[in-house]
Amino acid sequence: MKFIVNNGGSLSGNIRVPGDKSISHRSIMFGALAEGVTRVTGFLEGEDSLNTMRVFQAMGVEIEGPEDGRVVIHGVGMRGLQAPGRALDVGNSGTSMRLLAGLLAGQEFDVELTGDNSLSKRPMKRVTEPLARMGAKVDTAEGGRPPLRIHGSGALQAIQYAMPMASAQVKSCVLLAGMYAQGKTCVTEPAPTRDHTERMLTAFGWPVEKNGDTVCIEGPAKLRACDIDVPADISSAAFFMVAASIAPDSDITLEHVGVNPTRTGIIDILQLMGANLELLNPREVGGEPVADIRVRSAQLKGIHVPEELVPLAIDEFPVLFVAAACAEGETVVTGAEELRVKESDRIQVMADGLQTLGVDARPTADGMVIQGLGANGCLGSGGVLSHDDHRIAMAFSMAALRASGAIEIDDTDNVNTSFPGFVELSQRAGLAIAQA
Ligand code: S3P
Repeated sequence: MKFIVNNGGSLSGNIRVPGDKSISHRSIMFGALAEGVTRVTGFLEGEDSLNTMRVFQAMGVEIEGPEDGRVVIHGVGMRGLQAPGRALDVGNSGTSMRLLAGLLAGQEFDVELTGDNSLSKRPMKRVTEPLARMGAKVDTAEGGRPPLRIHGSGALQAIQYAMPMASAQVKSCVLLAGMYAQGKTCVTEPAPTRDHTERMLTAFGWPVEKNGDTVCIEGPAKLRACDIDVPADISSAAFFMVAASIAPDSDITLEHVGVNPTRTGIIDILQLMGANLELLNPREVGGEPVADIRVRSAQLKGIHVPEELVPLAIDEFPVLFVAAACAEGETVVTGAEELRVKESDRIQVMADGLQTLGVDARPTADGMVIQGLGANGCLGSGGVLSHDDHRIAMAFSMAALRASGAIEIDDTDNVNTSFPGFVELSQRAGLAIAQA
């Protein structure tokens, strides 16, 4: 599949993007381990969260749906999972693999986790290292890559772990393993990262203890089923925030978006760049803050992105680089080396694509320096490579709004991992996109 996006246009109307990927994964994991029936609404029916669902079905958990975002999980309790009898394939999903590694290290059976080509190249030592300290035995392929072979013993030790990188996946992996350890497991993060695991543990009746940059869980844990309403994913909404900012005469409202403060780096960064964003009707839904976000066109200006905002916007950089290309002046991103180990090397791949479109985009070890084209500037047109990365494909789709001609993006199937219905919703909002 590829996208062909004709240039120009503006965005308008009210749209609701699909459910939050991080929260959807966690709703299945905690729902499966809880006692009782968990009902989820707004679940992301994308390949990544569906893979998490299939993994638990393979371990004997009865899960109904998804149907219109509704999922019903019949929890089996902390010790109720069954050995799957085959390797568990999580496809493209790093979140599934890293969080499951922690959860499965606490079981009494052996299990193998595999993934697709992209996931098979991603680093897993960041989770196997703390798990080994907890007494888990996890084998990897060469260089700490997947597949992971997890040898369950059922007995983990509580640890105090200082994370070397700001990663919510690593933090969550250790907390999930901590649910199966005797005593208090603590994780200290070098900078704040998304806290959906902590919030959802509270919703399932097993609150964590938070002290500054350290979060602790007492094991062994016991979870009680609850209802989860998954808000729209701010990481998917981000494409339209940038699109409506860079396309003249745009005015769009994104409905029911999750605005957890550990995820709103994209809003802060765009506002620093001069974007016209308004948070309307703020409310709280199931322990997560939610709002509607109105976005109107604005002349963006280049900035040095504050490093403390980087982990709070980590998945939004592909489209932020497009915003920077349309801004007036220079944008500098530093402290974002984690982008090199996402679904693709997002620093190199975005720099290559922007250069193809005539933008002066210089990759650095930990970020990028982009010379914006300014108010009257236009990106070039032509073919760009997505490297099978969903967020690269969607970011370059939005670039067409300010291009001199059509942009063609290859290998776009992976958009389904996080944003099913992207083409239809984008068309409705005003993007001239088609797939072939
Ligand atoms: C995620 C955490 C982030 C993010 C990923 C989802 C999560 O990864 O990039 O898409 O759900 O915990 P890191 O924690 O590795 O930065």
